[in-house]
Amino acid sequence: MVVALAACNSDTSSDQETSPDDSNDTPDTSEQEAEGTSDEGNDEGGLVEIFSWWTGAGEEDGLLALIDLFEQEHPDITVDNAAVSGGAGTNAKAVLATRMQGDDPPSTFQVHGGDELNEGWVAAGKMQPITSFFEEQEWMDKFPEDLIDMVSKDGEIYSVPVNIHRGNVIFYNMEVFEEHNIEVPTTFDEFFEVADQLQQAGVTPLALGDKESWTATQIFENILLGVLGPDDYDALFSGDIPFDDDRVVEAVELFEQTINYVNEDHASRNWQDAAQLVANGDAAMLNMGDWAKGYFSNDLDLATNEDFGYFPYPETDGNFMVITDTFGLPDGIDNEDDVKDFLAVLGSVEGQDTFNPLKGSIPARVDADPANYDEYGQDTMEDFTNSRLAPSLAHGSAAPEGYLTKVNQAVNIFVTQQDTDNFINTLVNAAADLQ
Ligand code: GAL
Repeated sequence: MVVALAACNSDTSSDQETSPDDSNDTPDTSEQEAEGTSDEGNDEGGLVEIFSWWTGAGEEDGLLALIDLFEQEHPDITVDNAAVSGGAGTNAKAVLATRMQGDDPPSTFQVHGGDELNEGWVAAGKMQPITSFFEEQEWMDKFPEDLIDMVSKDGEIYSVPVNIHRGNVIFYNMEVFEEHNIEVPTTFDEFFEVADQLQQAGVTPLALGDKESWTATQIFENILLGVLGPDDYDALFSGDIPFDDDRVVEAVELFEQTINYVNEDHASRNWQDAAQLVANGDAAMLNMGDWAKGYFSNDLDLATNEDFGYFPYPETDGNFMVITDTFGLPDGIDNEDDVKDFLAVLGSVEGQDTFNPLKGSIPARVDADPANYDEYGQDTMEDFTNSRLAPSLAHGSAAPEGYLTKVNQAVNIFVTQQDTDNFINTLVNAAADLQ
């Protein structure tokens, strides 16, 4: 494990704009950009600019493989891979907003299903409906209804889901658990007992890299889901349960207790840097969306259920914190047909089975081939089918972007100051953005 880790260290340092150094072991995105510098693209064909935040280790492998597949099928169309690094779109979303406001949309861009798409770009009139495209592709029964709902507003579909990520997972170092005789915790109490035991043994119980605060927001949302259950978790975001509800206060207290078990240097690490602590046994557990699974398997060469194991965030078993990355058709682009060609590949079984095994996610399509996925993927597919879905706040589905920005700021302050009243007050005040 240590060898794999050393080989990958240099891949994870950048959290700013795309740089050619972002990855040593995957094709350099700048080559694709160089090919696509002409506005017209190839002589006979067009140019498709794909905007995302998938750069560097743990992020870009799936996208690059999907682009390769697209280029094989459409050699006449040039791809401009316009990715801006920074987990969860920390930097990309700001760049995108500027471009959209300046009427300079990318040909297509990564956007989470749920409020980020529907209450953001669709409500602002910046997206074209693609319901008839879904029908032409015969996709209406190929994606789960719940997922189609997440990319629809007022009866029209606005984007194509490429994947389903799960947010309420804890990955753990199996050797560390074995060495300390630790059983997988299923309740908050068990989780804290395990954390105490590990701490006494000199192992950091939980790895956190909240240089970008969405990683801590993700822990908080999982605790909210655990305490409130899926219905009342939803009710928070529809305004039916206020954020000063006793159970939210309880969740904040559990959150405070949880972050007392993280590595001291959490504020200077990004999610990959935190995942490395678990990979090399300096920390035991990591709560991260399962893009961390892609990172462990493809970048760090760790084996599923040998080097790392996984379990649902305590008290959230039977629930699935759903995150879906989708791509649509922005208003005002002049290469609609080429973009639809790309969306057709992204939404195809082959496209999804090319992208998702590398990304750590499961396919959004119901008819993708489970044989392409390892035990983690197959377990997750089964869980997805048998679980209640809860939309992620940290990844744009549960609430509009303005609210999320305020929560991320409040979480950042809370992690440092641990002032529950102040945190709850900020959540209550920010809830005005939910209406
Ligand atoms: C999420 C996104 C994932 C992954 C992650 C870390 O918001 O849905 O695909 O990229 O951020 O950057």
